[in-house]
Amino acid sequence: MSTETQSPRPRGSIPRFLEMKRQGEKIVALTAYDVLFSRLVEEAEVDIVLIGDSLGQVVLGYPSTIPVTLEEMIHHGKAVRRGAENTFLVLDMPFLSYQVSTEDALRNAGRVLKETLVQAVKLEGGTAATCTTAETLVRAGIPVMGHLGLTPQSVHALGGYRVQGREAATAERLRHQARALEEAGCFAVVLELVPAGLAGEISRDLTIPTIGIGAGPQCDGQVLVLYDALGLNGGFRPKFLKRFADLDQEVRKALKAYVSEVREGSYPGAEHSFSRDP
Ligand code: KIV
Repeated sequence: MSTETQSPRPRGSIPRFLEMKRQGEKIVALTAYDVLFSRLVEEAEVDIVLIGDSLGQVVLGYPSTIPVTLEEMIHHGKAVRRGAENTFLVLDMPFLSYQVSTEDALRNAGRVLKETLVQAVKLEGGTAATCTTAETLVRAGIPVMGHLGLTPQSVHALGGYRVQGREAATAERLRHQARALEEAGCFAVVLELVPAGLAGEISRDLTIPTIGIGAGPQCDGQVLVLYDALGLNGGFRPKFLKRFADLDQEVRKALKAYVSEVREGSYPGAEHSFSRDP
């Protein structure tokens, strides 16, 4: 096959992420859900784009990630792939698309890879059952990213969106689960809302990279929900979040200007209008 007919090579790859960890180079990840933003995120040269099931809250208006369906994830995964052809993409397997049985998980994850052309899937949790599922997917050639700490699909079981691993027993469980996910063949693990010191210990203990969100600076990489990072999600201001822009203010200003210019008749003007001549 000539190089012109090969599919584009993503900038990131699993061996590259492992090498980045060995070299102490930070891995930068962001979520995206549509074609325009994924184009911008690719232009910014992030290492990993996650089609997160946070889609449920920030795009679809659900109260949590629990209602998100596999069809919705695939729909948005395809859009992100069209915008970010050369970036390593990971897609969140939504609630109940991988917990029912390993066969079901394999069929669903296989469908995700075939239909969206993402490189990997992410599963939440570190129980023995999740590790068995991860192992089955990895053996079938489907790269898996793990996700520990605050796992939003279990929000009701966890009693809310709260920091995980503050008590000695839960900290030890997280350390154990992180090791188990590495042994199952995961190529990276997201640590969400975990005390910084514990996230550092887990990061040093693993040979695969940890990607933190609300887990302090000692993780091997960081991820944020794109709209939170851009300040588009007005009222959402958890301690860990830095808003790198205030887009909600910009959007408000722009929309006000549009509404008043249309109302007063200053838009559209002659410069925005077509004459009869071609
Ligand atoms: O769904 C999501 O966006 C995520 C990240 C916050 C890690 O899982």
